[in-house]
Amino acid sequence: MKNRQEEYSPTELEEAGIHFLFPEKKVTKDEKKKIGKSMSVFYNPRMTINRDLTLCIVETYAKQRNEKISYCDSMAATGIRSLRLLKNFAFIEKVFINDINPIAVETIKKNLDLNEIPSDQYTLSSEDTKLLLTHFHERTNSYLDIIDIDPFGSPSEFIPPAMYSIAVGTIGGLLCVTATDTPVLFGIKKEACIRKYLTAPIRTEFKKEMGTRILIYYIAKIAHLFELYIEPVLSVSANHFVRVFVLIKKGILGVNSNLQKFGYYLYCKTCQFRSAASFDYETNTMIDRICPNCGNKLISSGLVWMGNLHSDHYFSMLENQLEDPAVKKFPSFNRIKKFVELAKDENKMPPYFYSIPKIADSMNYIYPSPLKIMEKLREGGFIASRTHFEPQSIKTDAPIEILKGVLQEFQY
Ligand SMILES: C[S@@+](CC[C@H](N)C(=O)[O-])C[C@H]1O[C@@H](n2cnc3c(N)ncnc32)[C@H](O)[C@@H]1O
Ligand SMILES: [Zn+2]
Repeated sequence: MKNRQEEYSPTELEEAGIHFLFPEKKVTKDEKKKIGKSMSVFYNPRMTINRDLTLCIVETYAKQRNEKISYCDSMAATGIRSLRLLKNFAFIEKVFINDINPIAVETIKKNLDLNEIPSDQYTLSSEDTKLLLTHFHERTNSYLDIIDIDPFGSPSEFIPPAMYSIAVGTIGGLLCVTATDTPVLFGIKKEACIRKYLTAPIRTEFKKEMGTRILIYYIAKIAHLFELYIEPVLSVSANHFVRVFVLIKKGILGVNSNLQKFGYYLYCKTCQFRSAASFDYETNTMIDRICPNCGNKLISSGLVWMGNLHSDHYFSMLENQLEDPAVKKFPSFNRIKKFVELAKDENKMPPYFYSIPKIADSMNYIYPSPLKIMEKLREGGFIASRTHFEPQSIKTDAPIEILKGVLQEFQY
């Protein structure tokens, strides 16, 4: 049998000034079958924005804690996330770097050495994240301040183990979760969503927001089993992924307050009416399902998180963070800056948005820029903002008929 060095020849790559090795497989088809897809080490340059954003949030969180903290890169692949953290920031006590793939772990070790990271700053392991997180406390007699879960596809099976190992402390532990199973979260695979996230999606054009809220809902439900509750810090849907940063805190009062933030969507496929309703725990019923606008039947989602997607408290700290010269050099700096601006505006708005192109298409209208529409809506006494979810969409409390009327004003 060949040794692994012969099968995987490394290429040197660079991200945000950090050099690291990425082993490219040189194997035959037969060998590939034997080794399995999971053995190739993963690096996706399109996820740089995910890593840039994570570093910003992690440092902002650490400044709040004002003490050295631990971070678990539970699915590290090449280790680039941890390398960037360890090279750039001094607030980390220890990074626990893990990947189930032993070839990834060999690569991570080489990358740590290449970047001259002292061995007392990290612990490297190769096991299933579910086991690592379930047994972390009993093995180390400590908890993790930050847990990063960045799987292929759905993160759902890794959330319960994270609740065993997260440090809830005074301001809570920080859970950073990626989901790339967007067809499941966005309503295309309904049964899979019920199975993995315990709630039913619907098909609408604000699917990116609904999917993000479903992921947060699921994390909250799991936290509640442990008498823990959640507070989202920042939530984003970009490229092909959803990424949420949530604080995990302890306390029944917080759990009860979370329960008040669960609600469901109502949507009319005929006229595009939409609304968000809270669940009535007294009667266990949902409100009337007839569209108040056109009289057709409404469809409804299962429960989702209807609380804030972002923490207002974090925005000013994040803006300060974006002034840091090291952060200004991040490859996605401009996108992140724009994202923070949009997130700040959308946080005060209803939990859905309207796609201007979709409304215009349904009426054979041309459409002006969302800014012009927002201006008209505000003149009419409504609130309106853009949203990070889609550039041509807006959030507003104006009903669909008002929006259609505003669009009509721009036809000539
Ligand atoms: C999307 S990649 C991670 C990318 C990496 N975090 C980055 O920023 O470049 C997912 C990684 O999870 C690893 N993985 C998959 N299932 C796992 C499990 N159950 N436990 C631990 N690692 C797992 C894979 O080997 C792969 O390296
Ligand atoms: Zn209707």
